[in-house]
Amino acid sequence: MSGSLPFSVHALELGPMENFVYLIEDKASGRAAVVDPAWDVPQVLALAQQHGVRITDILLTHSHHDHINGIEDVLQAYDAQLHLLKAEAQFWGSYLDLPTLHHGGDLISLGETAIEVLHTPGHTPGSACYRLADRLITGDTLFVFGCGRCDLRGGDPEQMFHTLKDMEQRFSGSTIILPGHNYAEKATSTFEEQVEGNPFMHFDDVARFVHYRMHYHDQHRHEPYGPVCKGHEMPG
Ligand SMILES: [Fe+2]
Repeated sequence: MSGSLPFSVHALELGPMENFVYLIEDKASGRAAVVDPAWDVPQVLALAQQHGVRITDILLTHSHHDHINGIEDVLQAYDAQLHLLKAEAQFWGSYLDLPTLHHGGDLISLGETAIEVLHTPGHTPGSACYRLADRLITGDTLFVFGCGRCDLRGGDPEQMFHTLKDMEQRFSGSTIILPGHNYAEKATSTFEEQVEGNPFMHFDDVARFVHYRMHYHDQHRHEPYGPVCKGHEMPG
């Protein structure tokens, strides 16, 4: 995405749920990591070939089926190392042999590219985001003008509230988010734009956030998501 960075991130939108699968290319080493391989692995492999890289690592943001159903196909083609948070592996229970289990704050080296692992629970207990310089791969934690559901097994809307608050504190406004689904009117955004227009980032009260996430949002907003003014769409 930028000439001065040691990496490029390539996105593919795949499958019936508009999943984004990302290929992180480390320019110096020719290594690549695929994030959440699913749905159409031949397209992922073709993209890697097109860029002349070999997939050495698989990063999971979480263990839901629509983010992992291509792992085995990638492993058929490449001897890649699987990475996920320990908390997600415990929640998932049936992960593949010998994954590298991480804790929040760990760094993964992909050649000259440093990838920071963040623990961002809420959608699942071990959901992860991955930061590369000013890019943040957010999985189903933060979408453009949305956030992941918290009503599925392992979901916790109170944790999601605190996760989003922590992320707002931690990241500068210019940080670019790369979400796990294409649910909005555009594929990427900045933190500044999300703090302004993402309704899930407008709450200061956890109970109101929980009510909005669990009972109000899905009945009142529809895809593609667009920006919401602060104070608008808030249940009473
Ligand atoms: Fe999910």
